[in-house]
Amino acid sequence: MTSTPTRRQTTRRPLARSHIGARQLVALLGEWESAEPVYAALATRIRLLLADGRLSTHTRLPAERELADELGRSRTTIVAAYRALRDSGHLISMRGSGSVLVLPRPRPSQSAPEVDFARAVPAPVAGLDEIIHALAGRAPEILERSGFDLVGQRRLRELIAARYTARGAETTPEHIMITLGAQNAIALTARTLLRHGDRVLIEAPTYPHAYEALGNAGGRLASTPVTTMGWDIDHLVSAIERVRPELIYLIPDFHNPTSASMTAEERERVIASARRNGALLLIDETTADLDIDRLGRPPAFSSLTPAHAAGTLVSVGSLSKTIWGGLRVGWLRAEPAMISRLISRRPADDLGTPVIEQLIATEVLERYDLLLGRRSEQLRAGRDLLVELLHTQLPDWQIPDVKGGLSLWVELGAPLSSALASACQRRGVRITAGPKFGIDGAHERFIRVPFTAEAERIERGVAILREAWESLDPMATPGSQTHLPPVL
Ligand SMILES: Cc1ncc(COP(=O)(O)O)c(C=O)c1O
Repeated sequence: MTSTPTRRQTTRRPLARSHIGARQLVALLGEWESAEPVYAALATRIRLLLADGRLSTHTRLPAERELADELGRSRTTIVAAYRALRDSGHLISMRGSGSVLVLPRPRPSQSAPEVDFARAVPAPVAGLDEIIHALAGRAPEILERSGFDLVGQRRLRELIAARYTARGAETTPEHIMITLGAQNAIALTARTLLRHGDRVLIEAPTYPHAYEALGNAGGRLASTPVTTMGWDIDHLVSAIERVRPELIYLIPDFHNPTSASMTAEERERVIASARRNGALLLIDETTADLDIDRLGRPPAFSSLTPAHAAGTLVSVGSLSKTIWGGLRVGWLRAEPAMISRLISRRPADDLGTPVIEQLIATEVLERYDLLLGRRSEQLRAGRDLLVELLHTQLPDWQIPDVKGGLSLWVELGAPLSSALASACQRRGVRITAGPKFGIDGAHERFIRVPFTAEAERIERGVAILREAWESLDPMATPGSQTHLPPVL
């Protein structure tokens, strides 16, 4: 049976799903001028904002005159910039509908980037292939089960609970829920616990898809600074007192992107302040096991939170960085009553975690310490190589001394991160500009460089970073961007 095409199917008009005002766009643009002609530099920056998700597709841009007034530029310049965006396939203008951002269709000749520094994703840990091979032999038994579930397989939850208990946080399988990675856990928590307009305190910089999930769930975001030296803990505590957030999202171990870790005393102060102000702590431990050579391990938030206050804490973990990003297994640790709330909210978004992946995860957790040791060695090699290359090839950048994690949060010495990301993109290196890691257009002096790729890719990537950096002053040519993948 053929269906009658609906008006919606046949219309080719890009429907604007949101719009951005001139003032807001100017704030997002940051320091956008470069050696390119002004109209081209403006178009280049808008492409980058679209590519890294700071501007969404189907956003209507301000009218040319409005943007011209706000930028203090001639209308001709804005008209030319919009025309350049139309020519590169990033903008569709329709009489009566304004100018709407779209992603250009990928050209058939368009190849994958030579180096992908936009993703801090390590290769599968050595030994994972053997685990998967061994499980294949159990296929008949696995296929007898329903194949997916909302709360997670008991043995897997037991193993995860035992790790928390060993770290001093008494935990039973009833405290654990298995999710599709940490992102799924964060988004589910946000959707379940936040009401529209609730205040949420996050770090700046932070992991972008977490603030996106918290914002999408209705959270009003405020931030507290983190640098490669750690948290400004007085600021954090006073922000809790001042903002009185309903939820606080933190990454206390090998923070993404700075790789800093919070001290035990700092954790205690945060917990005390959150409790005084009735805030729920959402603690992201996705990167917590990525230790290379940190001296000692600070206690987990779950072990520092008194039993009677356990309802104020949700911890999130994942195997995606320690084992493999393709294993979509993460978890939530919370009070059983909270776990029940989360489980009942979950089916509206997804129907559960595949059992086959949970069985792989179970085998992984049976020998987790051995595998973590291997991951640590791999990260050490990547970190040492990247630090050495950056020191020798880009000696003016400030390279932090990191003890774990996946990346270096490098200070460039100039607010050129977005321009550098565009220049890299034209040379086949994807990299995420600093401002993507915050909500207010800051971090233009920083860029995150992951050390998770293979050695040759890191070497090639740094060579191109250097070339791109050196190109920024003399001349930069406009280029078209395709959509960047998620920031991991
Ligand atoms: C801090 C942090 N939290 C959560 C995630 C998402 O992890 P997953 O792949 O388990 O969904 C990432 C991935 O980059 C991350 O860096």
